[in-house]
Amino acid sequence: MVLEDAFRRPLLDLRISVTDRCNMRCRYCMPREHFDENHEFLPKEDILRFEEIVRIVQALLPHGLRKVRLTGGEPLLRRNLSELVRQLRACSEELDIAITTNGLLLSKHLDALVDAGLSRATISLDALGTDTYQLMGDTEATPAVVLKAIGEAQSIGLPLKINTVIKKDVNENQIIDLVRTFGPRGIPIRFIEYMDVGSTNNWNLDQVVSAYSMRKVLEQEFGSLQAKQPQHASDVARVYSTRDGWKIGFIESITNPFCGDCSRARLSANGSIYTCLFANKGHDVRGILRMDASDEDIARAIQSIWVERKDRYSEERSIQTKNLKVEMSYIGG
Ligand code: GTP
Ligand code: 5AD
Ligand code: SF4
Ligand code: SF4
Repeated sequence: MVLEDAFRRPLLDLRISVTDRCNMRCRYCMPREHFDENHEFLPKEDILRFEEIVRIVQALLPHGLRKVRLTGGEPLLRRNLSELVRQLRACSEELDIAITTNGLLLSKHLDALVDAGLSRATISLDALGTDTYQLMGDTEATPAVVLKAIGEAQSIGLPLKINTVIKKDVNENQIIDLVRTFGPRGIPIRFIEYMDVGSTNNWNLDQVVSAYSMRKVLEQEFGSLQAKQPQHASDVARVYSTRDGWKIGFIESITNPFCGDCSRARLSANGSIYTCLFANKGHDVRGILRMDASDEDIARAIQSIWVERKDRYSEERSIQTKNLKVEMSYIGG
């Protein structure tokens, strides 16, 4: 039985946040003035254990789950993450197991992750220029570290994508260089419209660069872009190809929302299910996990959350909910 929500959207993907901490402080996600030494991150005992995450995945597999994505915060800050990948892989050979990471710790963990059965990785990289990278990420780290990890991951055959959030007048000037760097290497890059997630990033429409205007800039440089057919209806990126066959995706959450086919549930690090990236509250499942529930009990609990789901925030984007939303680093993007 496939789980379907109130708009008949199936639950196919689970985004799993394994920690709410991060080793960067991207201005659009975890601005340092809010995520400083006074910020209360989740205490260890509240965070789901690997076995608990695996139970949730196992319970959802017979109901159509086909993809899990490990996120954070920064998922590679979670100790021994490859062990979770190994346990998830043991549940299913076919399951698509992906990770979204800022790449700073990837070199160190790459072999273990691949050996454990990771299917692919998406690496966030907002600039190639060191100054711009450090400004976007409010970090002293350098893009060279991330580029090294990307090279290593590609050389061992791990399928990769790059995610770049574009903020007006901050890293717009990186778009061409990024495409020139990753296009010829066959690594798809996705440009993301800066979103109004959470309530700490001071989002404002003036800071958004629309995917449409990014495409205009790219077309001047690389010639016309050809729209590709989506692989799955629920894909968040609309993918185009240059004449040379370089793939460029656009995640147009602001100007061209994609809620209609949204099949993603989110599991926060402390075990709540969120039915939308912009939801203002989650539904606790850790409670029932810690009460000796069977797989069927877990599936039933998630089903009862999912059938009620009517979220389509990006399509509705409204002022009233603006201050109530959950932070991206907590829910995992
Ligand atoms: P693929 O399986 O490779 O397509 O992964 P993905 O694009 O679903 O995941 P990724 O973590 O790379 O997310 C890319 C961007 O899309 C991030 O900025 C996410 O926050 C955003 N995103 C992912 N899912 C949703 C969603 O359901 N709604 C909105 N509005 N944005 C989303
Ligand atoms: N707008 C758009 N994308 C964002 N991300 C984090 N915060 C935002 C935001 N406010 C991106 C990260 C990462 C992905 C999981 O979400 O850069 O690539
Ligand atoms: Fe960390 Fe990713 Fe958020 Fe940047 S976008 S602060 S790397 S979780
Ligand atoms: Fe799905 Fe909510 Fe994003 Fe719309 S805004 S695509 S419903 S997560």
